Amino acid sequence: MNRVLSCIQPTGDVHLGNFLGALRQWVSGQQDCDGFYGIVDLHALTVTERPGVIGQATMQLAAVLFAVGLNPQVSTVFVQSHVPEHSQLAWIMECNVSFGELSRMTQFKDKSAKRDGEFISAGLFTYPALMAADILLYDAHDVPVGDDQRQHIEITRDIAMRFNARYGDTFVVPNAVMPKTGARVMDLQDPRSKMSKSATTDSGLVYLLDEPEAILKKFKRAVTDSETEVRFDRENKPGISNLLEIHAAATGQTPSAVAERYSQYGPLKADTGEAVIELLRPIQARYAELMSDRGELSSLLRLGAVKARGVAAATLQRAYDSVGFLTS
Ligand code: TYM
Repeated sequence: MNRVLSCIQPTGDVHLGNFLGALRQWVSGQQDCDGFYGIVDLHALTVTERPGVIGQATMQLAAVLFAVGLNPQVSTVFVQSHVPEHSQLAWIMECNVSFGELSRMTQFKDKSAKRDGEFISAGLFTYPALMAADILLYDAHDVPVGDDQRQHIEITRDIAMRFNARYGDTFVVPNAVMPKTGARVMDLQDPRSKMSKSATTDSGLVYLLDEPEAILKKFKRAVTDSETEVRFDRENKPGISNLLEIHAAATGQTPSAVAERYSQYGPLKADTGEAVIELLRPIQARYAELMSDRGELSSLLRLGAVKARGVAAATLQRAYDSVGFLTS
């Protein structure tokens, strides 16, 4: 069966971009693959300095993942720091990627620019090596992600091919898989920037757990343009196109088909807000139930870690054997 791996960081609250770009694909594809889905807390450490924050965020994110529909009987949901092989393989990845390659990563450039004047850890720079380890440990063929991860999957492929060429065939070379609509959800207040947990204000971000009134308000205030024509044109009409794409993703249509039904911005904004509220309503109800039993969540994560380690330990050993480390 097709092996699938993807991960999400426990930093900030999950937003509509995460859901439409990634989580929804994880859920819809889970029956047809052998899926591993990680909460990557080690990655979160690159931008989190306060103690105690990551553990709490990890628990909430686990509840979100089960609330959106990951089924623990079918999919393996695990926490990255519970599977030590991730850090172990990451070192080998670091030794198979160059300083120049890491320097070209746009996410590093963006994130370090946003932290100007603050502490910029070496971990933020070597982040793609840990991400490559996350993927290659599971022999993943497909990696369902949003468009912003495209470059990270490319560098993972490059690392896998380089390692295989140097040490012999060891890793599966993975492919990025993106949804038809929702691969790049933009900020409602700044539709030329992607919706991101690291945005300076959250008025343009729709969180999965936002109250319905807050969601509607954010859509009604979405930045558009001074024209009046509703048409899908990302380049010239980024605000309207983002609304059309969100509406389409929430209702299973194409953005152009949605555009045909509207001649004014106001109704498009309100209906998109309503469509998102309906999409999120059942998720919010399940989240509340799941968070009321943290013992159960912890035990699901423990089971996930055991399954993940089974696969990860075998791959790490294979990599050690390929390198030819002296056996202990
Ligand atoms: P993260 O935690 O930022 O985001 C999780 C997933 O959400 C997608 N996403 C979006 N999709 C559409 N529109 C947006 N505005 C938007 N914002 C985020 C991301 O593409 C991602 O799929 N580096 C990764 C985490 C990671 C990972 C991995 C992913 C670590 N190891 C291995 C896949 C495989 C990240 O920071 O995602």
